[in-house]
Amino acid sequence: MDILIRSTPAEVATAAADIFVRYANAGATLGLATGSTPVALYQELTSRCERGEVSFARSRAFLLDEYVGLDRFHEQSYYSTIRRVFTSHVDFIDELVQSPEGDAANPDRAAAAYDQAIRHAGGIDIQLLGIGGNGHIGFNEPSSSLQSRTRLETLHPRTVQDNARFFENTDSVPRYALTQGLGTISEARHLLLLATGTEKSTAVRNMVEGPLSAHCPASVLQLHPRATVILDEDAASQLEDLEYYRFVDEHRPH
Ligand code: F6R
Repeated sequence: MDILIRSTPAEVATAAADIFVRYANAGATLGLATGSTPVALYQELTSRCERGEVSFARSRAFLLDEYVGLDRFHEQSYYSTIRRVFTSHVDFIDELVQSPEGDAANPDRAAAAYDQAIRHAGGIDIQLLGIGGNGHIGFNEPSSSLQSRTRLETLHPRTVQDNARFFENTDSVPRYALTQGLGTISEARHLLLLATGTEKSTAVRNMVEGPLSAHCPASVLQLHPRATVILDEDAASQLEDLEYYRFVDEHRPH
């Protein structure tokens, strides 16, 4: 795992953008995430696109997950969210931004079709990830198989609580989602996980320094040959080997 620690969330976004633009400019297949954490990155990428430093015209994108039971045009569906916060502001071809079909009549079939679509596209080159306070990635909640495929998942009560801020009240938060599985995510050639804020620090410690365990789904990154984790000081604050990670970052062999 490559661990980069930056002073502020803005610096986390800049470091992530430096990595992401190389993939976009090469026409790569991008895995996108929603939630609050990547918003600063999406704003940075939008500014760079306006300055002509990056283009998404040759890229396609797959979202990590989608609520089940929301119409895709509901303002909180991830289909709508990613367009509102990112892809409609840059030169992405809209039809090439795909998400799991959360409003499908048969979610199991939609889940299998999504894995198939990713495979047909040749796989994901770089998958952007956030982390839940309980260590989830995508909507893979604690107890998810580390080899799971895209599937219907029941949201953990903590996730429902965390996501209530996007809805009128807790009761309006969907209880189910279609999520890329941990096995699906692990097939991406490069994983880029961003975390900011003290409320993520326990999950980050468990992911980086805890045991490989379905109890902390993000610990599956320990198995990935190319995982980059970019943290602000707050999210990194519980890491035991913090000074070593800083040394590695500052003294990279050429
Ligand atoms: C979003 C997703 C989730 C979030 C995570 C962190 O597509 O799959 O795993 O990345 O819940 O959310 P924020 O960034 O809002 O703290």
